[in-house]
Amino acid sequence: MADELDRRGFLKAAALAAGPALVSGRAANDKVNIGWIGVGTRGYAGLDWLHTASPNDVQITAICDTYQGYIARAKDRMQTVWGTTPKTFVDYRELLADKSIDAVYIMTPEHLHHDMAIAALRAGKHVYIEKPLAHTIEEGFDIVREWQKAGKIVQVGTQNRSSSLYKKAKELVQQGMVGDVHFVRAFWYRNGLPNEPSWRYAIPPEANPQNTDWNRFLGTAPKHDWDAQRYFQWRLYWDYSGGISTDLLVHQTDIVNFMLDKTLPKSCMASGGIYRWTAKTDDRDVPDTLSAIYEYPDQFQINYSCYLGNEFFGYGEEICGNEGTLRVMNRQDLYFEPEMYNSRRANAPNRAPEAIKARAALHINGVQEYKESDGAINHFRNFINAVLGKEKVIAPPPVGQQAAISGHMATLSYKNQKKVIWDEGTNKTKFA
Ligand SMILES: NC(=O)c1ccc[n+]([C@@H]2O[C@H](COP(=O)([O-])OP(=O)(O)OC[C@H]3O[C@@H](n4cnc5c(N)ncnc54)[C@H](O)[C@@H]3O)[C@@H](O)[C@H]2O)c1
Repeated sequence: MADELDRRGFLKAAALAAGPALVSGRAANDKVNIGWIGVGTRGYAGLDWLHTASPNDVQITAICDTYQGYIARAKDRMQTVWGTTPKTFVDYRELLADKSIDAVYIMTPEHLHHDMAIAALRAGKHVYIEKPLAHTIEEGFDIVREWQKAGKIVQVGTQNRSSSLYKKAKELVQQGMVGDVHFVRAFWYRNGLPNEPSWRYAIPPEANPQNTDWNRFLGTAPKHDWDAQRYFQWRLYWDYSGGISTDLLVHQTDIVNFMLDKTLPKSCMASGGIYRWTAKTDDRDVPDTLSAIYEYPDQFQINYSCYLGNEFFGYGEEICGNEGTLRVMNRQDLYFEPEMYNSRRANAPNRAPEAIKARAALHINGVQEYKESDGAINHFRNFINAVLGKEKVIAPPPVGQQAAISGHMATLSYKNQKKVIWDEGTNKTKFA
C-alpha cells in the first residue's frame, strides 16, 4: 500500500474531497462532451436521467457497448430524448482515445470497473463510475491512487448520498432527534415468481456470439466459453460480481456511513447461502440469503440482512437511537418516532422525559416532498456541476471505496466462514 494511502491518508482523502468547489477552466458556454460506456439496464436508463439532470450543460457524443442490440436500442433512445446520434464503439479504449470527450460514464459489470476507470483517468477523462467501485479491495485502491494522480473528477454511483430524503435524515440525526446511536438495522428483501428467479434478468432472444463481444465482456476475468446467462446475468457469478454484498449491501452501509458520519467497520461476520433459487438448472454462485454483522470502532453495529425470497419488509435502514428511531424505507419514506420507554405495552404511559416527548413524530414522502424517487438524477447533476467547477462530488473514490470495502468484507466472511477484520495499519483484511 502506498504511503499516501495509509489509513489516515485514506480517510483524510475522503474528508478533503468533500471540501470547497474547484475552479473550472472551461468557457461558460462549453458543453461537456460525454462518452457513455455500457448501455444495459442502468446505462440505458441513465441516458434519460442525464437529460433530466443537465440538459443544457452536456452532450453525449459517443456510446460503447459489447452487445449490438443494446447499441441499437441506445441510439434510438438518444434520437428520441436528446435528438442526436452519438458515435458508437465496441472497444472502450477507442472511445477513450477520442480527445474531444471530457467525461465518461462507466455503467458496466463490476469486474470491468477497474480497468475501465484506470484507462479513463489515464486518458484524461472525468469519470462517473457505477458502484461498487471495483471487484476487489485491491482494485478499488488502485482506482483511488489513480484518481489522486490524475486530478480529475470521479463520482461513484452510490446515489443515495444525493437524495434529499437521506440528507434530511442526516440533518435530523445531527439535530439530536434520535440521541446516541449504537445500532442500525438495514435490510433489502425481494422476491421473484417461480419462473422468474431473482437476478435471472431476461436475455434478449437475438443475442448470440456474433453480436456480443464475449472476450471484451470477460476482460481479465477467467476464461470461459460463451454463455448468455453469464453475459446478461453476470451478478450471479463470483467471476464478475460480489452478489448481494456488492450489488445491494454497499448502498446501505454507504448511506448509514453518510447519515451517521461513519467510515469503515472494524469487522464483519457474514453468513447465508443459496436457499431459495435451488433449481438444478440454476448454476448461480452467489447466495440469495445473506446476513452480515458489522462492528465499528466506536461502539456501533450494523445488523444487515438480505433475502431474495420474500419482499414483505421491503428495503430500509433503521437508525435505532437511544431516544428515537429514524427509518428510511424503500428510499421513499422517512419516519421518525421518539422513544416512549414503555416497551410498547398497551395503555402503558409514555415515560419519556419532556424533551423527548416534545419531539413530534414525522413522516416525509420523498416523491411528494422533494419530487424525487431516489437520488440518481441529483447525483448525475452533482457530477456534471463538479466537472463544471461549481460543486464538489459527494461520492469521490475514497468514499466509494469505503462503501465497497464493507461489501467485500461480507463476501470474504461468507466465502471463508470466518470473521473478517479490517486492519487499519495495512489497509487490508485479515481473518479473526
Ligand atoms: N446505483 C444503482 O442503484 C445501480 C442499479 C443497478 C445497477 N448498478 C450498477 O450498474 C452497473 C451495470 O449494471 P446493469 O444492471 O446495468 O448491468 P447490465 O448487464 O444490464 O448492463 C451492463 C452493460 O455493459 C455492457 N458491457 C459488458 N461488457 C462490456 C465491455 N467490455 N465494454 C462495454 N460494454 C460492456 C453489456 O453489454 C451491458 O449492456 C453495475 O456496476 C451495477 O452494480 C447500479
